[in-house]
Amino acid sequence: MFPKNFLWGGAVAANQCEGAYNEDGKGLSIQDVMPHGIKGPRTKEPTPDNMKLVGIDFYHRYKEDIRLFAEMGFKVFRLSIAWSRIFPKGDEETPNEAGLKFYDDVFDECHKYGIEPLVTLSHYETPLYLAEHYDGWLNRKMIGFYEHYVRTVFTRYKDKVKYWLTFNEINSILNSPFMSGGINTPKEELTESQLYQAIHHELVASASATKIGHEINPDFKIGCMILSMPIYPLSPDPRDVIAAMEEDHKNMMFADVHVRGEYPGYMKRYLREHGIEVNFEDGDAEMLKNTVDFVSFSYYVSVCATADPEKNIREEGNLLGGVPNPTLKASEWGWQIDPRGLRYILNTLWDRYQKPLFIVENGLGAVDHLVTGKDGQPTVEDDYRIEYMRDHLLQVEEAIEDGVDVMGYTSWGCIDLVSASTAELKKRYGFIYVDRNDDGTGTLNRYRKKSFYWYKDVIATNGGSLHE
Ligand code: BG6
Repeated sequence: MFPKNFLWGGAVAANQCEGAYNEDGKGLSIQDVMPHGIKGPRTKEPTPDNMKLVGIDFYHRYKEDIRLFAEMGFKVFRLSIAWSRIFPKGDEETPNEAGLKFYDDVFDECHKYGIEPLVTLSHYETPLYLAEHYDGWLNRKMIGFYEHYVRTVFTRYKDKVKYWLTFNEINSILNSPFMSGGINTPKEELTESQLYQAIHHELVASASATKIGHEINPDFKIGCMILSMPIYPLSPDPRDVIAAMEEDHKNMMFADVHVRGEYPGYMKRYLREHGIEVNFEDGDAEMLKNTVDFVSFSYYVSVCATADPEKNIREEGNLLGGVPNPTLKASEWGWQIDPRGLRYILNTLWDRYQKPLFIVENGLGAVDHLVTGKDGQPTVEDDYRIEYMRDHLLQVEEAIEDGVDVMGYTSWGCIDLVSASTAELKKRYGFIYVDRNDDGTGTLNRYRKKSFYWYKDVIATNGGSLHE
């Protein structure tokens, strides 16, 4: 059974839904020059084929969207603040008032319906200026810029926002240094030492944000956000088991530092044996001791690992990728579907940390087809999405039965938005259909899908209807 105060809701990110990329003083973010997501080269300037420039126009339609979330009964709405709306270049002293005012309005609108905002401070939208002039998180100065930004928004919204996440999927920097870390140096030219130095800067900044946040409002609940991905051994061969463990360490290191406040032994060994030197400045080790209140994570896929070089054929799947699992089916975008993996990762994280867990992303990206519903309104018969979500939520319930402390669940892209990896809109996740196509056509009208009514029922019955 789901606990009475379970936080049901949905999640989005500013760069994937807001649009209005150059309105009211907003500066460019790295996403404004990524028309192909991580699949293609970045551009010098924003180009009209970049779907994120308009997104789903949440910037102008947030009232309608939040009303629809309220109609579904959301208790929480996860969104991010676009850093470049607040500090257009990123290194200014004075924030952009129009940007601050926008989020005031959004949070007020949430509270009007009793919806608690859950805010990601940095979700793949580093100000472009910081990427181009400082090389993003490779540069230690980023810590100071980030601290100034988070102090500004923590202070401004201290009575409107309680739940905060420091960096979206912080471990995705391993694979996507530009999107995740604003690192302008091409990935092929980055040394592992540089990459781990950038990671160190982010980890220190994240701990510092937790410290600053708790000073500003001791009631804040501040979490880390990890791209979670169970890594199973491809076979029972103990060498595969160890390969899976070592692969897993690369991701778990991020959560370990956030929760335990120091680099784990296996990581020190990895750095040592790979000749990687991470420069710790005075005070860094102390700063890392500011640990998080809860652990949040995204969950879409599991993968396998093997010690056998011949079988070690990785596929992309989500942002990190791995060896596909021969027992699982995949989505239209090749992401393998594994509901039980969610129970598994919840138990793993709970056993390891004994900290409250929050599933802040999960969902199915699929092509939807509009049909006319019984009420004459356009709709989508998205039974595939309902099946995906039911299967996953039943596993969340299993984990709760196992004794795991789960705070809530925000499904990804509760309203259709632009994909992060491919920058397409046809990869839809929402309960709400947005009439916009990848060629830029469409009315931007919103339509309730079948899953909209289904999720509404799930929330109204606190998960009871999952068993019907
Ligand atoms: C996560 C990101 O990686 O997965 C989101 O935090 C992203 O920003 C989501 O949208 C789904 O990925 P995609 O590539 O299908 O949009």
